[in-house]
Amino acid sequence: MSSMKRLRKKNNFQFSIDMTYKRTTVTSALPYANGPVHIGHLAGVYVPADIYVRYLRLKGEDVLFIGGSDEHGVPITIKARREGVTPQDIVDRYHNLIKKSFEEFGISFDIYSRTTSATHRQVASDFFKTLYDKDEFITKESEQYYDEEAGVFLADRYITGECPRCHEQGAYGDQCEKCGSTLSPDELINPKSTISGSVPVKRMTKHWYLPLDRHEEWLRKWILEDHKEWRPNVYGQCKSWLDMHLQPRAVSRDLDWGIPLPIDNAKGKVLYVWFDAPIGYISNTKELLPNDWEKWWKSPDTRLIHFIGKDNIVFHCIVFPAMLKAEGSFILPDNVPANEFLNLEGDKISTSRNWAVWLHEYLADFPGKQDVLRYVLTANAPETKDNDFTWRDFQARNNNELVAIYGNFVNRTLVLTHKYFEGKVPERGELTEYDNATLKEFVDVKAEVEKLLDNFKFRDAQKEAMNLARIGNKYLADTEPWKLAKTDMGRVATILNISLQITANLAIAFEPFLPFSSKKLRDMLNLTSWSWSNLGSLDMLPAGAVVNKPELLFEKIDDAPIEAQIKRLDEIKKQNEEAKRLLELQNFKPAPVQENIPFDQFEQLDVRVGTVLECSRVPKADKLLQFKIDDGMGCRTIVSGIAAWYNPEDLVGKQVCFVANFAPRKLKGVESQGMILSAQDADGRLVVVSPSASVRNGVKVC
Ligand code: MF3
Ligand code: ZN
Repeated sequence: MSSMKRLRKKNNFQFSIDMTYKRTTVTSALPYANGPVHIGHLAGVYVPADIYVRYLRLKGEDVLFIGGSDEHGVPITIKARREGVTPQDIVDRYHNLIKKSFEEFGISFDIYSRTTSATHRQVASDFFKTLYDKDEFITKESEQYYDEEAGVFLADRYITGECPRCHEQGAYGDQCEKCGSTLSPDELINPKSTISGSVPVKRMTKHWYLPLDRHEEWLRKWILEDHKEWRPNVYGQCKSWLDMHLQPRAVSRDLDWGIPLPIDNAKGKVLYVWFDAPIGYISNTKELLPNDWEKWWKSPDTRLIHFIGKDNIVFHCIVFPAMLKAEGSFILPDNVPANEFLNLEGDKISTSRNWAVWLHEYLADFPGKQDVLRYVLTANAPETKDNDFTWRDFQARNNNELVAIYGNFVNRTLVLTHKYFEGKVPERGELTEYDNATLKEFVDVKAEVEKLLDNFKFRDAQKEAMNLARIGNKYLADTEPWKLAKTDMGRVATILNISLQITANLAIAFEPFLPFSSKKLRDMLNLTSWSWSNLGSLDMLPAGAVVNKPELLFEKIDDAPIEAQIKRLDEIKKQNEEAKRLLELQNFKPAPVQENIPFDQFEQLDVRVGTVLECSRVPKADKLLQFKIDDGMGCRTIVSGIAAWYNPEDLVGKQVCFVANFAPRKLKGVESQGMILSAQDADGRLVVVSPSASVRNGVKVC
């Protein structure tokens, strides 16, 4: 039995779950309705939230799962303007697409609504008004950029100009995408409005701010002392925000898309998207339960859990709790299990670079394989650090785990039941020591899976569920009922009875993770009632009950469809590189010319022409080439860092320019007597500088 024990990883828990709550409100971040959803969304937020909710439901707990689209904010207005449609058109398009993707992947929301709903507009306005009446805001006037031609204030993203750091043209008012610097519009050189192209002017404008500084003290205690159990990434980010001290945050914007400020003298102002969006969780609950929503948000015996990605931590752990506290009648979140990011084939997922696996495209390519993606995303869930999705891993996990372990065990059990017992669950005789030990294993697995799920460790929990299938597989392999069939049908009956009970257990254990296959399996087993408490039970399938002929739960995935996906990504990568190169070419601006120098200073620089006699790579230095140059007087050795761009043999015989009067220096053990001149191209490539016609070796360049 010790080998089975070793299948399970031991986990240490620092805390236990408080069981005094009566119900749980689970929210998952409202995705922006400005594009379809991809595997990063699913892995980071929606699959873990769905696993958790399905688990609680299976346990018979009261739980609500709230979702919806985030339909305000500047990027939606920019996209609309670019396409020449209204922001409403954009959000209608993507809200419906996103909603459909979630349904298709079995994300079991109790409601999936949107922040352009009438209910939300009302709830968010009322929320603002309550805080306003309680004097929970301050106002500040400041100068903001204003487009006089278009007659609007300009959000940071609407202003472009030259980056003050890297001098790239077309940097945005909040960020330069070339060098990654965070900017403020004031820093841009020659700022321009992207709406009219005109030069924006500064104008005074007034905004409402949530003075987070007033909330710092209780937030510190609430998070840093009372919620030490939060994930280290969440706790750490909160701590660093709190340690830097909190500043007032504007909750209004000058924009014509959003929820108007419900107060006088605020014409043209709307709620900042990050003020209204989290209130969307509340509005959507109210839309679902107009008369009964309050207990899910205000009752102290309700637990509130927010599933989000790491870029949302500050809003859910600091800003939204401050809003709720300021309002006064709401509960605060119990936990915010934020995930890190999922990368795709080693690169950051990016909508603008089309570097993603879109859910609707995945389903077109792999119809019916929702559970395979759910499985792989949970197996690689970025719970503690960024993680990578690769198509090869996807294939391997499908073939080696879902098919070879889970599917194989279920299939063998059902095939044997039909072969020896006409599809009826056989009677179980006396159990051997080995049977008992096996059963004990899967009772242990139940406790382990529970502990892990209660602590939001979905990856490990799924691993445990798979271990249950492994235990089953090993049980069949060790007991070999097909060999006993000739001599001891009584024993075969017991073995298959136990195996069938394990398959019923698998249907339950995997239901939170792989709901589609669980349903299929339950249907095969004719299992009509099940709950989490049955897990570990030996009596879910009574003797004599009929099980159906097996259908494959999972199918092997061949190389061809995987290679097609990899090829698609390779092509996207090539296109992106080409686009980048073109952009760099268009935007190339020579470096500013340096200060004038006197002629004699130039004369001190001894640049000459020589012919490459020999050229070879420097051992253990992948950047360096070693040259022997005929300099007209003899042969000199020069080492140059251009190995990445040249085959050494291609340079032999070429004339090059080199600085002849550098003090010799050692590079990787080779003494270099000069420097070969080269020019850098847009993609960083170094090109050696040669005379345009052959000249005598050793002549000076002047
Ligand atoms: N739309 C935001 C994002 O995708 C998340 C909003 S979550 C909510 O990053 F709290 F505001 F609802
Ligand atoms: Zn820059």
